[in-house]
Amino acid sequence: MKLLVTGGAGFIGSNFIRYFLDAHPDCSVLNLDKLTYAANLDNLSEVASRANYQFVQGDICDPELVGSLLRQDVEAVVHFAAETHVDRSIADARAFVETNVVGTYTLLEAARRKGVRRFLHVSTDEVYGSLAPGREADEQAPLQPSSPYAASKASSDLLVRSFCRTYGFPAVITRCSNNYGPYQFPEKLLPLMITNALEGKKLPIYGDGLNERDWVFVEDHCRALDRVLDAGRPGEVYNVGLGKPATNLEVVRMVLRILEVSQDQIEFVIDRPGHDRRYAVDTGKIRRELGWEPKVDLEEGLARAVKWYRSHSDWVKKAKSGEYRLYYERFYGNRRASLTQL
Ligand code: NAD
Ligand code: DAU
Repeated sequence: MKLLVTGGAGFIGSNFIRYFLDAHPDCSVLNLDKLTYAANLDNLSEVASRANYQFVQGDICDPELVGSLLRQDVEAVVHFAAETHVDRSIADARAFVETNVVGTYTLLEAARRKGVRRFLHVSTDEVYGSLAPGREADEQAPLQPSSPYAASKASSDLLVRSFCRTYGFPAVITRCSNNYGPYQFPEKLLPLMITNALEGKKLPIYGDGLNERDWVFVEDHCRALDRVLDAGRPGEVYNVGLGKPATNLEVVRMVLRILEVSQDQIEFVIDRPGHDRRYAVDTGKIRRELGWEPKVDLEEGLARAVKWYRSHSDWVKKAKSGEYRLYYERFYGNRRASLTQL
């Protein structure tokens, strides 16, 4: 089978391509990625020279390009490409609407015309919004996105749903909780905390640090995507998660303990506007229907992630240079300053 993977040079996409080509050496992958600030082709150096892997730099919003790639005997699409950082969407949501909404529409329309066998839309648990303590969102829960990022993903989910119902388009949607692991861009909580701790820098925690997220090791997410691609029912949504939400403070303290770094490096900064308090998904459907179970618990996953960032200092240095440095200084500088003015 030949797959078109979009956004394969980012965090989850690159982990998925490596996982998929190892698990299915008879299949091939065509990776379409615009190479935004979050992408890094080094993430794919292990597979770059394989005969069954090909990379094309381009935008999913470009209908001619997407159409011509799909005509290269592509049977299935796995759609990761997106703008993904909530804080950036709060600062300026335009690119989120363009890529996540218009880009997804462009891809859907081209894939429908081509008649692909399967379209896997990689979405997020953030579309359900913040959940009260003790509650879990199942796949029927209302979409109540809080951030412009989450709203753009929810919009793309609705477009996918409409294509399934109107055209009988063979799409499936996954909604996974927070991922972590190797190759994650260090603007996201865990790689930021691990690398800052290793560099002796402060660890900025928003608000009171009691917001809860359900952390999934990226390899577990990749296995779930592979199962859904293979056996998910068209038109259906599958939640993916560990089912064990933890507060940001708990998770960051675990990282500091693994690294044997002082808890004093934690610094509380002004909260994210509209900050969702708690995410939690009911994952009964994927477990029952597709037999997927997560294999990596938080303790093991954090130890593996810390080990990876520790041994990939060149990757971290590159990721934290250029545009990132400006973003980081401006963003966290503002947060600290606003806090001292309170
Ligand atoms: P990422 O930011 O690390 O990577 C996104 C990739 O998409 C980058 O390589 C970027 O260059 C590419 N891209 C962006 N705009 C593009 C465009 N217009 N055309 C082509 N390529 C483009 O993202 P990630 O964290 O790996 O997330 C991948 C997908 O998984 C996203 O759809 C995200 O919503 C979803 N997701 C992420 C998480 C998480 O915790 N990171 C959890 C659940 C779902
Ligand atoms: O739930 C899935 C989603 O997880 C994905 O769809 C998103 O693409 C991904 O970015 C992630 O969203 P979050 O907003 O949950 O992730 P982030 O890593 O930005 O933040 C995780 C938590 O940590 C959140 O409560 C905010 C907090 N945080 C984050 C950063 C970057 C801090 O306290 N300090 C920080 O510096």
